[in-house]
Amino acid sequence: MEKARFSRVGFILAAAGSAVGLGNIWKFPYMAGQNGGGAFVLIYLLTVVLIGLSIFIAEVYMGRTTREDGVTAFETLAARNGHIWKYAGFMVFTGVLILSFYTIVIGWIFKYIILSFSTLPISVGAAGKLFGAMVSGDWEGQFAFFNIAFFLTMWIVARGVKRGIERVNLILMPLLILILIFLFFYSMTYTGFEKSLTFLFYPEWDKLTQSSLLQAVGHAFFTLSLGMGTIMTYATSLPKGENIVKSSFYVAFIDTLIALVAGIIIFTFVFHFGEKPSQGPGLVFISLPALFHHMGVMGNVISLLFFVALAFAGITSAVSIVEPTALFFINRFKMARSKALIIIAVIVYILGTMAVLSNTKAYGAHFTYFGKGAFDLMDFVSAAILLPLGGMIIAIFVGFVIERDKVHATMSKYMSDRLFNLWYFSIRYIAPAAVMIVMINKLFF
Ligand code: PHE
Repeated sequence: MEKARFSRVGFILAAAGSAVGLGNIWKFPYMAGQNGGGAFVLIYLLTVVLIGLSIFIAEVYMGRTTREDGVTAFETLAARNGHIWKYAGFMVFTGVLILSFYTIVIGWIFKYIILSFSTLPISVGAAGKLFGAMVSGDWEGQFAFFNIAFFLTMWIVARGVKRGIERVNLILMPLLILILIFLFFYSMTYTGFEKSLTFLFYPEWDKLTQSSLLQAVGHAFFTLSLGMGTIMTYATSLPKGENIVKSSFYVAFIDTLIALVAGIIIFTFVFHFGEKPSQGPGLVFISLPALFHHMGVMGNVISLLFFVALAFAGITSAVSIVEPTALFFINRFKMARSKALIIIAVIVYILGTMAVLSNTKAYGAHFTYFGKGAFDLMDFVSAAILLPLGGMIIAIFVGFVIERDKVHATMSKYMSDRLFNLWYFSIRYIAPAAVMIVMINKLFF
């Protein structure tokens, strides 16, 4: 069966759609806020360029040369012991775990889109109560919105790579970018704008702790969708003759730019209204709605645009989280797409329901394992363990297991020898070492 191929811009938008997600607009700003701003941002930028980008290119290389699912790609590319290396393809299942909590957060966003049409909470305190009530009190509501996000995602993926994934990205990504451009220019009219720039780009090194360094490195993986075969899987649908290095640069650039722009917008409002940047995960769901309240009716409009943008970013990422597992079933077991998706859906639905209930006061205790609720546990296991582990395995695999000549033969079409050597050094030594340090620290300290 001939595989569906993205168009050139289709691939870039789809990969950027995967990368640009809740990680950029929700996680990055609150992490930057919690970790003191500038110095954290600089470390994050360095990590993206030095580590993230090289693993990204390695994933594209694997997908593009094999045009096979994540498991088969390892198996066929290994110079020897393919039957062992195929187990590195475990990473195609990480998505099932991520999707289970990711769609819940998209559900929250849907709820906040509707909230934008009514009176916004008048203070951060009131907003905090509202958010708390939604997450820990109203499991029926949360469950309903999770269902919408979940079935929407599955429906898009069911339509296939061209008519589903590519089309959604072709529509939603430009809209997302337009909304952010508008919000960016709008935020420029606020006096908090300058403070926001200083906060994000003026490094105060004494604010950088060991932990913020590690968070910056870990986030570089999450935000570029690395370590679970998403980029690899999308790359199997690359059109012929596409310059894979250039495309990777574009995607990493768009992803980083959008994180920074989102950060600038959010902190402009935060500083303008004298709020603290260190609110944490509630920054977007608690601080922002209360700040928008101060803007009157315009606040409702801004709130609506903001949460719509966040929803678009989330949906285009969610579909990319399903596809590696789907392609694995389709390619390896010659399953119909619909059948593959039903299997995935059943698992995600069960895990997602557990995650919803784990946040509630009423049932939380029943869904707590190793001292963490199911929701937090899925987030932790995937973002802190599975993604970095997957990224490290990919780097080591391309750097040491595939013959250098083979890699060089393909990559020299897109890179000068100097750049190739730099990239190769990064995936062989810098990336694995950095990931190892991050993981050991995250797990044991
Ligand atoms: N990159 C996405 C984000 O920033 C999350 C993601 C992780 C998507 C892994 C796909 C794979 O939100």
